[in-house]
Formats: sequence, structure tokens, C-alpha cells
Amino acid sequence: MSEKMVKEKIMVDPWGKALVSDYTRLIKEFGMQEFDIEMMPHPSTQMKRGLIFGGQDLNVIADAMKNKKPFYCLTGIMPSSEKIHLGTAAVVENVRYFQEQGAITYVLIADVESQAARGVPIEEGKKRALEFHIPAYIALGLDPKKTKFYFQSENKTVSNLASVCSQKITENEFRAIYGSVHPAKVMSAFIQMGDILHPQLKEPMPGVIPVGIDQAPHIRMSRDIARRLRSEYGFFAPAASYNKYTSALDGSFKMSKNESVGKLEIPEKDRTELEKKLKKALTGGRATKEEQIKKGGQPDKCIAYEYCKNHFIKEDKILAEMYQDCLGGKNLCGECKQKFLITHANKFYDDFDKKFANAKKIVGKMKFLD
Ligand code: TRP
Ligand code: SF4
Repeated sequence: MSEKMVKEKIMVDPWGKALVSDYTRLIKEFGMQEFDIEMMPHPSTQMKRGLIFGGQDLNVIADAMKNKKPFYCLTGIMPSSEKIHLGTAAVVENVRYFQEQGAITYVLIADVESQAARGVPIEEGKKRALEFHIPAYIALGLDPKKTKFYFQSENKTVSNLASVCSQKITENEFRAIYGSVHPAKVMSAFIQMGDILHPQLKEPMPGVIPVGIDQAPHIRMSRDIARRLRSEYGFFAPAASYNKYTSALDGSFKMSKNESVGKLEIPEKDRTELEKKLKKALTGGRATKEEQIKKGGQPDKCIAYEYCKNHFIKEDKILAEMYQDCLGGKNLCGECKQKFLITHANKFYDDFDKKFANAKKIVGKMKFLD
């Protein structure tokens, strides 16, 4: 890395693209805390596998969990994209974990943000969310009975709180956090502040926002604003957990949710296409068959392994088998991909399709907050 790059500040724009591969630097520059698994009373599989790299005030959430005190967990869905990225699914998995640990769970449809930042008409965003995103989040494991869903466009409490928040930040502070003061970004950011803080209006309590790194600026501003509103509203600064970024199948890091090249999405209806993509995934295999058998492969450099670990293989035993077989040179990469990656990806997608079909049936009966 050049001297200049080392010195350059990491600037994450939630609506743009950024290249982030150095988590240690990120933690430092964003004033995050490294994720400490020892702190969590019942760590999830994701946590055990190192997928959560950092957080903010997670000790407060851990304490609430231990002492059975109320806390909330909140996430938002952008109905601008037609599908869900695997990275987003990993964040939903983390929401599911906090829900299981007792969090009061909110999931909002960011139809106002999709309109402002991406030009998706509100009605169109709503329609897509009802047809796809909401049942998809349920299929990914959220309990519809325990999840409070709402649309940004319909939630007055949220927009009123957004306007309160907008008084608490100067133009220069906003620019320092987001890199610009584009009107659509300002609009979206303050609505998001309303989302993040509104569960505390009735009763201040800790809350956790599980996110990917692209959302770090929002977390930062929400924490600043919460502190400034503390004397008036008693707000806790929201806690956050940060999921590692999902690399593209060719091994590159791409941050934008709109960048679908070489990435898997949910759903993947065409299984032949899916297998084709998986067969092209970067591996940690050796140059020749002989070398692979002699030295074994390099699972820690292998995207096939990374995808199995982060997304497709839930059972520790099977994952360990993949890892050990690789190190022992037991399989060539083609065979390994067939046996582990393709088999378990198909299983994952079959399971999703089945649960999605079931979830579709209940969406019509769901109630939304307003
Ligand atoms: N901005 C988020 C995204 O791009 C969506 C979102 C809106 C959100 N409000 C939120 C996420 C509150 C977390 C918390 O995906
Ligand atoms: Fe990756 Fe499997 Fe090849 Fe090992 S054998 S490098 S895990 S594809």
C-alpha cells in the first residue's frame, strides 16, 4: 500500500461505492470497538465464525440480555433493489439472533429513502416490499409475530422525530460524516435517524442496529444526535454490530448493493446459472493436481470456503470436514466445490424458496405500524 493510501481517510458514503478490506483500520478510524465474543452471553454461529468484526456499545446490549432488561433491534430494507444480496442476508441473520435473544424487533421499509436516493416511487417501493422483501426477510428467519414492520412513508412518529434530529446537526458536521450535503442524502439520513431512535420515545432503552460497513455514517450520526437529545428525551446512544463485507465470487471487494457482477443474490431461481457461477468462484487451490494432493489447498484464501462458512453451511461438523479435507489435499477444487459449495448452496436456496412461499401467504394478514 502506498504512503498516500495509508494516510488517506476512509470515507464511506452509504449511497456510493467504497473499497474496504482492512477492518483493523476501519475500527480505528470509525471509533468502533473490536467485536469481543466473550462478552456475548450466547454467541451466534456468525459471531463464532468471525463474521461480526466490530461494534459499538455491544456491552450495553449484552448486559440487557443477561439481566433480561428490554432492548430493541432495528433494521431497514431498501425496496430499490429487486433482490437481496447475500451480505444483506447475513445482516438479517444477525437481526434474527438478537430477536431470539429477546430484542423487540423493528423492520422498516425505507420507501422514503428509496424515493429520495434512488428515484423509486413510494407506491412502487411499497409494492415490491410486500411482494418480495417482507416475505423474504421472514423466510430468512424473522418471526413475523414478533417483528414490528412499518413503512417510512406511513410512520408519522418517525418523520416527526426526523425533524427534531435535523436541528441537532450543523451543515459542516453533516458534511464531515457523509462527505456531502446532497439534499436527497440529507432527507434520507434524517428519516433514518427517526427510524433508529423512535423506539425509545415511549421508554428510553438500549437498541442495537446490525449493519454492514456502508451504514457506519448513519450509526455515527445517530449516536451524536442521541447524546444531544439525551437531556430532553433520555435517549441511549444506539449500539451497533458490524458484519464483514461479502467478497464477490472472483475475490474482489465491492461495496455497492447495486453491483451484482459476480455476486450471488437471493433468490437464485436458475440453478444451472447458479452452479455455473459457483464453478467460477476463486479458490485457494494449487497450480497442479500433484501439488494439491501433496500440499493441500488453502481454504483461508478460498472464496468457495468463505461462502460456505459465511452463508451456506450451518453445521460446524460439515464445515470442519471441508476445511480439513482441503488442508489434507483430499479433494481437487472441482470435486470440493461439487461436494460442499454446490450441494449446500442448492440446499440454502431450496430452503429459502420453500419458506418464501409460506411467508407470502401471511403477508396479506400482517399489520403495519403507523
Ligand atoms: N439506509 C439503509 C440501507 O441503505 C436502510 C435503512 C433505513 C436502515 N433506515 C434504517 C438501516 C435504519 C438500518 C437502520 O440499506
Ligand atoms: Fe477451496 Fe475446496 Fe479448493 Fe480447498 S479444495 S481451495 S476449500 S475449493
